[in-house]
Amino acid sequence: MCGIVGYIGPEQASPFLIEGLSKLEYRGYDSAGIAVFDGNEVHNKKSVGRLGILKKKLEQSPLEGHIGIGHTRWATHGRPSDVNSHPHTDCTGNFVVVHNGIIENYMHLKERLISKGHVFTSETDSEVVAHLVEEYYEGDFEAAVKKVLSEITGSYALVFMTKHEPEKLICTKQDNPLVIGLGQGENFIASDIPAIIQRTRKTYILSDGEMAVVTKDSVWVTNRQGVPVNKKVFEVNWDAEAAEKGGYEHFMSKEIYEQPKAIRETMSSRLATNNSKIIFDELKWNREEVAAIRKVVIVACGTAYHAGIVGKYYIESMARIPVEVDVASEFRYRQPLVDEHTLAIFVSQSGETLDTLAAMKEAKRLGAKTLAVTNVVGSSISREADNTILTWAGPEIAVASTKAYTTQLVSMAMLSIYIAGLKGTLSEERTHELIAGLRNLPGQVHEMLEDVEEIKTFAQQYGFNEDVFFIGRSLDYAVALEGSLKLKEISYIHAEAYAAGELKHGTLALIIEGVPVIALATQHDVYEKTLSNIKEVKARDAVVIGVAMQGDDEIKKYVDHTIFIPKVDKFLAPILAVIPLQLLAYYAAVTRGCDVDKPRNLAKSVTVE
Ligand code: M6R
Repeated sequence: MCGIVGYIGPEQASPFLIEGLSKLEYRGYDSAGIAVFDGNEVHNKKSVGRLGILKKKLEQSPLEGHIGIGHTRWATHGRPSDVNSHPHTDCTGNFVVVHNGIIENYMHLKERLISKGHVFTSETDSEVVAHLVEEYYEGDFEAAVKKVLSEITGSYALVFMTKHEPEKLICTKQDNPLVIGLGQGENFIASDIPAIIQRTRKTYILSDGEMAVVTKDSVWVTNRQGVPVNKKVFEVNWDAEAAEKGGYEHFMSKEIYEQPKAIRETMSSRLATNNSKIIFDELKWNREEVAAIRKVVIVACGTAYHAGIVGKYYIESMARIPVEVDVASEFRYRQPLVDEHTLAIFVSQSGETLDTLAAMKEAKRLGAKTLAVTNVVGSSISREADNTILTWAGPEIAVASTKAYTTQLVSMAMLSIYIAGLKGTLSEERTHELIAGLRNLPGQVHEMLEDVEEIKTFAQQYGFNEDVFFIGRSLDYAVALEGSLKLKEISYIHAEAYAAGELKHGTLALIIEGVPVIALATQHDVYEKTLSNIKEVKARDAVVIGVAMQGDDEIKKYVDHTIFIPKVDKFLAPILAVIPLQLLAYYAAVTRGCDVDKPRNLAKSVTVE
């Protein structure tokens, strides 16, 4: 996965390319590069490492010109290195390309091109594309690109530039995102909106198979058959600041603090004013349709998968439909038992995670009714799905997902109440209670975020431990999984989550004096059992931090410290209980001096298998 940008217009291209790439670093940041045409030649400058290194190189020897393309990379084929960085060029250096995705048949194409005399400099799959354009160019850039597209297979977003026709950029996409920003006498291309929002709010969002020829004054879009496509302008209505850090030290802390707003917006207009039902205009399912659902599968990756586990508890208890939850990379290869009576739900913040997208395609092929729960309008997963529930969290930039997770939980809760309403499995009174509970969440999260000093202290105190364990039962176990992932990914502390009752089957052997155990105890129906498990770890001299509901004085007798969350319905407790765990991970990472927003080896959106 990578970020790509392009500029054509009256201004110098480099400043936009660099500014745009800095907004796309969440897509990958192991190397970066730009290519600019100066009126005579195409000049290419690229470098392994963060964008800052490229910037320094450009300060020393700037690239001048009014048309250019750029790339920020997350390595797939070929390790991060200067030569493997994009843009890639053909043998002559006259054709340049930036690519996000994977060209699956590149080996075969590369061998063929080498046998024809082409000389490759990188180990990447992407370079093959530049040589192919060189091979096919006979005075018509568009025709050459079309020929290339008919040969390559795999996933891609591509932007092409050539010195032979320097008045245009050509871009296209398949299974990877690409937007075109429409300016006045200038146009922009990018993988995602934050890269162009400072320059324009008018965009075309390209669909799979579409190709655009972009000049400074025009954008000409055609489909795979070469038929012109009449694109609708998509007006971006986020404020520019929404994509910026807005005063916080890190995007992650900003996004943690945005949760009250994100949750409120995700619920807005979906809760009936009298709390009697959930309104999903985007679904409009009827009783018959819902009655036909015999099974639900929830498929996702990482944090979104953890939201899916909470979704299973919700749907099974409220709507009484059996639910399976699977990680996307497993689901698609296990010959899933899915048919037209299955509702398959795909949860994805970005809507671009390749495994999730591929799993969705598989579920569709098997006849399932598909539903996307995603944060990105027009994303691949949302376009592929029969229906979409959008989480309205706004752009999430930090690699560690926070506001996307809580809005996914809220969406799963609303969906469960909605389905239960159509199935008649939830009493009016219970529906009312749950919806009233949902309404209170933004205020409660806000209240929790007002005083974080104690959590900060715990993080400083325990942030240098090698191992941390998270335990809980039922919904608390689902939250424990997310708490542990958060801690691992940004602070690099070894963290494991266990169903509290499972510890004694092996893992208890790891609990020795001083090992921190975060014990979630918000679920009253399993509360006593959880206390027993807390006693088990205390008996091995673990240091226990309990997470419990306000008013629970009992727990204090058994733990070393307690973090209280506001009193809430047990179903909604995960949405509050995860907040201190996010903060704990955040402050532990800060204490350890980690790169909070860009943890090592990770990227925000994983668009490769
Ligand atoms: O965009 P998606 O929700 O599909 O992404 C799925 C995971 O890659 C993502 O949740 C990942 O686990 C996060 N880094 C966790 O914080």
